[in-house]
Amino acid sequence: MKKLLTAAVLFLLYACAVQHDTPLPALTTRPDWKTLEVPATPQDLSGNPEAGLRFLLYGNYLGTGVPWSMVEKRFTRTVRDTLWQRSGPNAHAPYLMNVFEAANGVPVMNGNCFTCHAGALNGRLVPGLGNSFSDYRRSFKPMANATSMAVRIKYGKRSAEWEAFEDFGRYFKKMAPHIRTGQPGANPAFRLAEACMMHRNPDDLSFRETPQFAISPFPVATDVPPLWNVKKKNALYYDGIGRGDFSKLIFQASVLGIPDSTAARQAIAGFKDVLAWLHTLEPPAFPEKINEQKAARGQLIFEDKCAKCHGAYGAQPSYPNKVVALEVIKTDPVYVQYIHQSGITAWYNSGWFAQSEPRSWFEPLPGYVAPPLDGIWATAPYLHNGSVPTLEALLHSPSRPVRWQRSGDSRDYDLEKVGWKYTVPTRAQKKGWTYDTTLPGYGNGGHTFGDALSADDRAALIEYLKTL
Ligand code: HEC
Ligand code: HEC
Repeated sequence: MKKLLTAAVLFLLYACAVQHDTPLPALTTRPDWKTLEVPATPQDLSGNPEAGLRFLLYGNYLGTGVPWSMVEKRFTRTVRDTLWQRSGPNAHAPYLMNVFEAANGVPVMNGNCFTCHAGALNGRLVPGLGNSFSDYRRSFKPMANATSMAVRIKYGKRSAEWEAFEDFGRYFKKMAPHIRTGQPGANPAFRLAEACMMHRNPDDLSFRETPQFAISPFPVATDVPPLWNVKKKNALYYDGIGRGDFSKLIFQASVLGIPDSTAARQAIAGFKDVLAWLHTLEPPAFPEKINEQKAARGQLIFEDKCAKCHGAYGAQPSYPNKVVALEVIKTDPVYVQYIHQSGITAWYNSGWFAQSEPRSWFEPLPGYVAPPLDGIWATAPYLHNGSVPTLEALLHSPSRPVRWQRSGDSRDYDLEKVGWKYTVPTRAQKKGWTYDTTLPGYGNGGHTFGDALSADDRAALIEYLKTL
């Protein structure tokens, strides 16, 4: 598995200089509300779920990539897709990469959504679970340059292979300096989107050497949310910025390689099926016996203390789609602050995404979405920045560790405290895979709604949360 991941990382991951001394962006807005219910926008759910999964696993939504003929021998010799059991060249692609034809017919390889949206848990990969094991602390800038050089030397700039690689090569290079993070496990997807979009004409998505907006030097990154909650949501992303047509919103991951809006429009049809597939996703069930009596007691506590924000579960589910103001939730504000200062909103709303049908648009709000808690037992670490390793610590803020280390083995999951088993590193051990909540953007404060519970009540509440 490790080897496989390293091979995949070769062509996929990116990054550069981390600047911890950069001042934090200031919050620009003070809300006059405490919680806001985001209204629904109509979604086209007439897609075909099986076609959606097939598209994710074989589709050309990345547009361009590394010529397959350059890497085919090595992959065919060493890699088997044991997760999806795909056929054709994809039988020899890691689960997180697709081999597909670029517009000119040349087969290429590029990452798929499961790079970030399949997570390891208890020794198994769970599609739809966020990957909390990624590590963007290294610089991938040298790799971006080396990949471009290798393709150029092997095929020459007038070849069909170069044409099938060119857009990915450009965006890989442009993005690499912006997506390095200072925290293991943290995912820079928002900066990846910014770095690619800023080099695209907003109207036809074609490449622009001159940046269309400025990007902050602050290396913000987050946890990855589970995809099975999309069906309950009226707005996407941790702050609810993503509005309008979801098939167009989720396509934005393709800005890494898609050549222009003509190719994008074709991909959108596939994403309509992907959206239908997302609606069929269910969270994994808790793997051990649940104490029904204790859980029933926990349900009463949940309904009293939690349901107004997180909704109701069971026979009559409901979900209020609330964004909770920073002043109320008091979790780390940096992600919201960062998004507020980003030029991405004006870029997105001025062009193809928001001005052509089906419309999607960005509407940043100064708060965080109270997410659905379906499958919450499986989605540690918790909060938008992944700063809290267990549910027990989330519901008792004084016990949250300032620094914590995981073994890296996905079987080290704690089904009592519910979340990752961790140790608190000594000063000498800090260097390894250590989540450090003292870094800007990764604070573990706020969300103190469980603090006043007795230990007994908290245990009952956790027993109930296992059933969701
Ligand atoms: C580089 C990692 C990465 C890749 C690749 C990626 N995503 Fe994501 N995705 C994220 C992160 C991180 C978030 C959370 C961002 C936020 O909420 O601000 C996210 C959020 C989402 C959401 C919103 C979930 C919610 O509950 O609001 C959807 C839907 C989604 N991604 C779908 C996709 C699809 C489909 C693809 C492939 C086309 C994809 N993603 C590729 C990292 C990634
Ligand atoms: C005032 C609204 C509100 C109340 C009340 C509330 N929460 Fe939350 N909850 C939120 C918001 C907003 C977030 C996201 C915060 C963030 O990511 O920074 C959240 C996050 C969470 C998470 C982490 C989700 C994840 O995917 O990481 C869990 C678990 C949770 N809440 C459980 C509870 C429980 C249990 C209660 C009752 C004791 C509760 N919440 C009460 C608003 C609320």
